[in-house]
Amino acid sequence: MSAPVQPQSVIETPAALKACLEGLGRGIVTVKPRVFFNKIEHRFAGPAPMNLYIPSSGIGSITLLEAAILVSLLKLMQPRKVFEFGTFLGYSSSLMLRNTEPGCEVHTIDLGEAIGQYEDAKGYSDAELHADDRKNDDYLRYTQGTRGTYYLGNLDTADRQRLTLLRGNSTKLDVAGKGYAGIFDLAFIDGGHDTATITSDTVKALEMIGDSGVIVWHDYNSTIHSDVTDFLRGFSADHVVLHVQSTMLALLLVGEASTRFLQIAAE
Ligand SMILES: C[S@@+](CC[C@H](N)C(=O)[O-])C[C@H]1O[C@@H](n2cnc3c(N)ncnc32)[C@H](O)[C@@H]1O
Repeated sequence: MSAPVQPQSVIETPAALKACLEGLGRGIVTVKPRVFFNKIEHRFAGPAPMNLYIPSSGIGSITLLEAAILVSLLKLMQPRKVFEFGTFLGYSSSLMLRNTEPGCEVHTIDLGEAIGQYEDAKGYSDAELHADDRKNDDYLRYTQGTRGTYYLGNLDTADRQRLTLLRGNSTKLDVAGKGYAGIFDLAFIDGGHDTATITSDTVKALEMIGDSGVIVWHDYNSTIHSDVTDFLRGFSADHVVLHVQSTMLALLLVGEASTRFLQIAAE
């Protein structure tokens, strides 16, 4: 596998992003958050609202800046079907439900109640959680299993009806068998962070979006989950991956969705 292409500069405008990607077939491109906010300003006549809960005090969910990028993407791309790997407490699922159109379905998968094997994780110290990616992942699995989908508790009826909560191991998900191949517009990958899981979730996400859509990964450049960064560096040998500066979000734009996204505010 050849080394990924790494452009030197950070992309600051939609036009610079479009120009950069037109000549690039692979590599990781770092993009400033303001590129997304600039696109929002051009796409909507007035200020764009964002519905969100105060973030959790614990580890495991996305930051406020990451939430703002995710919501910007949802508003720009207006997906009809979203798939999430890793529901956890439901923070990002609720964010996606509360910032998409009334017709948009959100499907999310997590392990659910299968916490027996993660019992040890309740005793891990903060230092262990920040130093050991496997312990960190087991702690997230344990926390999800014991606390459940806390942030989905207050959904209104209309949003609840747009949500499909899947329970099970994402690596065992039968995409074709469930009729999920090629029907999703956006996939958010934030489940298990080991190489086997991140690879499997990516293969399934690619199958789900088919020839057009967006994949978003969390934990690129994480100081804990280095497998995600290593995976995306390898993946970028054949794809252009956008990393959003000051976040752990990385994006892949595929087909018509890519053309549409790059066009907004680029001229
Ligand atoms: C980082 S948390 C997700 C955070 C959530 N996306 C948010 O921002 O609110 C990761 C979640 O992935 C789940 N997970 C880990 N491995 C999994 C697997 N193989 N299948 C399904 N879920 C998995 C964990 O149980 C945990 O709840």
